[in-house]
This record gives sequence, structure tokens and C-alpha cells, in this order.
Amino acid sequence: MTSRSARITTERPFYDLHADAYDALITDPVEPWVDAVDDRLRAAGLSSATVLDAGCGTGRHARALIDRGHRVSLLDASARLLAIAGQRCPDSPTHRDDICAPKLRGRFDAIACRGVLNDLVSDEERDAALGSFATLLGDDGLLFLDVREAVEARRRADGQWHRSEVALNGGETLTFASRPLWRTGRIVVEERYELVNRDGSSSVHDYVFEMRPWERDEITSRLTAAGFSEVATLQGVGRRTPDRLFVTAYGLS
Ligand SMILES: C[S@@+](CC[C@H](N)C(=O)[O-])C[C@H]1O[C@@H](n2cnc3c(N)ncnc32)[C@H](O)[C@@H]1O
Repeated sequence: MTSRSARITTERPFYDLHADAYDALITDPVEPWVDAVDDRLRAAGLSSATVLDAGCGTGRHARALIDRGHRVSLLDASARLLAIAGQRCPDSPTHRDDICAPKLRGRFDAIACRGVLNDLVSDEERDAALGSFATLLGDDGLLFLDVREAVEARRRADGQWHRSEVALNGGETLTFASRPLWRTGRIVVEERYELVNRDGSSSVHDYVFEMRPWERDEITSRLTAAGFSEVATLQGVGRRTPDRLFVTAYGLS
């Protein structure tokens, strides 16, 4: 893995050590996003599209797209999240890969990339990922993004601790606490993971994670520079907070 964001997937407990808690912690319904993608694919005459889920996480959205008739390939830098996605979507090819420098070759009708591009904090990584998406899309292929929007993201970075406690399948309890702070265009998130095992033993991991949300103009200019056209930045779908954008664009024709 060459990019910083890809390397971080092996360090951040949320993506690695506690990957098994991901689905218990992130419970947003998948249907609104998947419906928005599926509607646009069908409107383009693609009822069984080849879709690359770039940064698929545990494969929740991929599974719902497969259930709607699409053929989804799974790509993620995190081995542990990708393994969960592979179990959920057993007929899908899995690629442990870096969206900034993918080894994957091929052409897809569509790429869906949800909640991933905020993890790319440098200009170089952002341009590299969008450039690789342009290469991996077939003629007139469709790109679907979900990204954090900078103005609302700043409002949400309230410096307060937010806690969730979840019970895991092995009988452990994980308490996840996070505190988002705004620092010069970045969201710096202090994270604490406290795991209590069935026998009462426990462990604590602290991590500081950094995200960079997107300005609307930045999305349009970077996508246009990468060769995309008809870029639309719409209000996010299926999110409980107003700090997300649903972005659509067409690849090279
Ligand atoms: C917030 S999660 C979103 C997962 C999934 N798309 C969803 O909506 O539930 C971000 C995902 O991006 C992956 N990721 C981050 N940087 C990456 C990179 N450079 N290449 C591939 N995957 C990456 C992480 O491993 C993680 O699965």
C-alpha cells in the first residue's frame, strides 16, 4: 500500500483491530444511498451494471446493490474490513488495494465510493484517487461519491465527546468514544476504544484520526481536471446529519 490513507487502514482500530464492531457502530440504513445509485443506473439502461465499490468497508452497500441485480467488485485497503465484505458478498471478487495507486485493472460501468475520500487528506492523494477512478470507468461510466461537506462538517466538529457502547458476538462490550475538533480545514478526531471481555479483562486503545472534508468547488474542479463531466453535487442521501454530499459524474467518453 503506497498512500498514507491506505496505510492508516492498518493502524486505525475502527478499520483493523475493531473491524468486527464496524457494523454495530455504523447503523445508518443503506437503502437511500443504494436506491439513489440504482435509480441512476437503471435510468442509464444499466439494470445489471458492473460496479466497483471502492472503499467498500464491510460491504453493506455492495450487498444491497447485488440484491438489486448489479455485479459488484469489492475493493478496500483494510484486510479485515474486506474479509467481512467478502463473507457478506461471497460471489464478488475482492481486491485488497489502494484507491490512490490501484493494482486493479479493468473497466466498470460504475464506481461507488462512499465515505472514503474524506480519509484522503493531501491534494496528491485526492487527485490520484480520482485519476484512478477515471481510468477504471468504461466509456460514459458513472461515478457516485459520498463525501463530507466542509461548511457543515466544521459546524459538527463541536469538541464534545460522543460515546457509543455495543455488544459484540463473542460477548465482549466495546465502548467507542470520539471527539471531533476543527483545525484549519481538517477534522481531527480523538478516539478511544475500550473493550471489556467476557471474563472482565479489558483493553484501551487511543487513536487520533484526521479527515479533510470537501468544498463543493473543490469536488467539481478536481473531478473536471481528472476528465469527468456533468458533475452534480447534491445533498447527501441516507445520512442523519447535513454534512454529506452525494456527488455524481460521468467518466471519459
Ligand atoms: C468510513 S469507511 C466507509 C466504508 C463503506 N464505504 C461504507 O460506506 O460503509 C472508509 C473506508 O475506506 C477505506 N479506505 C481508506 N483509505 C483507502 C485507500 N487509500 N484505498 C482503499 N480503501 C481505503 C477504509 O479501509 C474503509 O473501509
